[in-house]
Amino acid sequence: MSEQQKVYPVKPEVADAAWINKEQYLAMYAESVNNPEAFWAEQGKRLDWMQPYTRVKNTSFDPHNVDIRWFEDGTLNASVNCLDRHLAERGDQVAIIWEGDDPNEDKKITYRELYHEVCRFANGLKKLGVQKGEVVTLYMPMVPEAAIAMLACARLGAVHSVVFGGFSPDAIASRVIGSDSRIIITSDEGLRGGKCVPLKENVDEGLNNPAVKTVEHVVVLKRTGGSIDWQEGRDVWWHELVADCADECPAEEMQAEDPLFILFTSGSTGAPKGLKHTTGGYLVYASMTHQYIFDYKPGEVYWCTADVGWVTGHSYIVYGPLANGGTTLMFEGVPSYPTHGRIGEVCDKHQVNILYTAPTAVRALMAQGDNVMDSSTRSSLRLLGSVGEPINPEAWEWYYRVIGNSQCPIVDTWWQTETGGILIAPLPGATDLKPGSATLPFFGVQPALVDAEGKILEGATEGNLVILDSWPGQGRSIWGDHERFVQTYFSTYQGMYFTGDGCRRDEDGCYWITGRVDDVINVSGHRMGTAEVESALVAHEAVAEAAVVGYPHDIKGQGIYVYVTLADGFDASDELRKELVKWVRKEIGPIASPDVIQFSPGLPKTRSGKIMRRILRKIAANETDGLGDTSTLADPSVVDDLIENRAIQ
Ligand code: WT7
Repeated sequence: MSEQQKVYPVKPEVADAAWINKEQYLAMYAESVNNPEAFWAEQGKRLDWMQPYTRVKNTSFDPHNVDIRWFEDGTLNASVNCLDRHLAERGDQVAIIWEGDDPNEDKKITYRELYHEVCRFANGLKKLGVQKGEVVTLYMPMVPEAAIAMLACARLGAVHSVVFGGFSPDAIASRVIGSDSRIIITSDEGLRGGKCVPLKENVDEGLNNPAVKTVEHVVVLKRTGGSIDWQEGRDVWWHELVADCADECPAEEMQAEDPLFILFTSGSTGAPKGLKHTTGGYLVYASMTHQYIFDYKPGEVYWCTADVGWVTGHSYIVYGPLANGGTTLMFEGVPSYPTHGRIGEVCDKHQVNILYTAPTAVRALMAQGDNVMDSSTRSSLRLLGSVGEPINPEAWEWYYRVIGNSQCPIVDTWWQTETGGILIAPLPGATDLKPGSATLPFFGVQPALVDAEGKILEGATEGNLVILDSWPGQGRSIWGDHERFVQTYFSTYQGMYFTGDGCRRDEDGCYWITGRVDDVINVSGHRMGTAEVESALVAHEAVAEAAVVGYPHDIKGQGIYVYVTLADGFDASDELRKELVKWVRKEIGPIASPDVIQFSPGLPKTRSGKIMRRILRKIAANETDGLGDTSTLADPSVVDDLIENRAIQ
């Protein structure tokens, strides 16, 4: 039996204890697509509404009128749903377990404490004039204050825009410009793997950009106490801001379709776009998927290792778990520090029941050998999750056998920044597992595979993955550019949401995501536009032209392979290679570091001047036997040179 056909059936004891078993899944799924109004009207009740909704679904994927509304006449506040409503029953239960970068540092925060901290900080933000509807930018380390700041914004009806702490000053600047933020919340420094990350310094540098005109205040959390520059009048210490603030703060009544947050993500062209997520549908969906896909039970300790700078952190560290009154673990550090056993040690220390991480982390541990987990038992674990990129069956098996002691189902969860929550994943009590497959759609999700013309393909087949109808967690627009939203997602295949992913469906109806079919690459689960890396490169004086492609990488899933033609007067050298890597890190951030740079006198182009990336991808992947037709190239000899001088990996 090949790896790809291996099946792990649901164990009866898991099905018995789970929220949803197979019969329930089938019945509920059928109801969710046959009668979405009634289905979601019922599911929406999982939240506390200030004004109950009477209209449930009002959505159109028609490219002339893309308009997505859920629960539109209901009102609510997300922070009330994550905090206030839990106080009576579980005020003293731990909401956030924080595990520091240093294994000797940790902290537990109860729901009551979190509630008061959020109120206090919301009152602090009010003193700075923060109002409903304005965008507040966060650039934070993985500390509870990141969640506190998000929830404080939600309490006031301000829209948070979290910028991943690994991004560069330029990236901060462009995101602040794209959202007209007046307030930035950051920290003196972050701490990761024993090293300091100069967050405040990066903010200062980003704000030096003369095109940033809107920022009035930078709120600074003291994390390390390291020395930082201070701009009197602009910069405000977090602890000083809240020193005299009350620990109660009334919550704004928000319309279900008022924005909760924006989050910038990369596409195949242009600058990153700010995906807009709204309040009601998003929170219903984040909370419901968290409960059913992780089969989350009250009192369990749940750990998602993502950073709050990504959508995974938004939906499955903060909003989903807290809306469900869960205990969510937040980890400041990295899996390899102080040793590669850290993830298992944290599981033992905090008795983690559910662990949700990325394939790249699993593969990095796998590369250390089976003994890497010897320092822990992980006996508290009950369920494992995977997210961010396809998980290869070998990594799945290793995750199952070594980290999960062959005891824990793995939910491979496929979704995107745009989708707000998980769309395709097994339910542990209902779905037989297949290593490498995200298996079946969640309630209300109607995936389909289409060919290049948009014809829907039936049965076991392969094609481009689209979603036929809306689900409540769906992103509603691109901030300030609805037309781009329509163009990017609803115009390739009329009337369908196009995911950008390729996918196979097997004879059991299970989905196997094969990766992006556009010019987006996925490096260690981090999404990047090849065009962004290219535009960073051509901004360097030595670069005349650059083309960037992904290539298979053992640990990262995909690595970044760069082809560069040099400007007149510059010569290829290792020095220049290092310089360009440094340059890209500075322009975008360390996650965009090129793995390989190949200098070449020319790039393969069609006669009309279009770079043939298909060929560049093949050369990078060392698949030079199957280059296909190169006769349409303006200068076919370019290809021979590229192959001959292929950079060694
Ligand atoms: C892209 C979305 C989902 C939150 C984190 C990433 C890839 C994501 C899986 C999975 C195969 C996956 C897709 C998708 N992806 N999860 N389980 N199996 N591929 O969110 O940064 O918006 O990236 O990540 O290619 O389109 P994102």
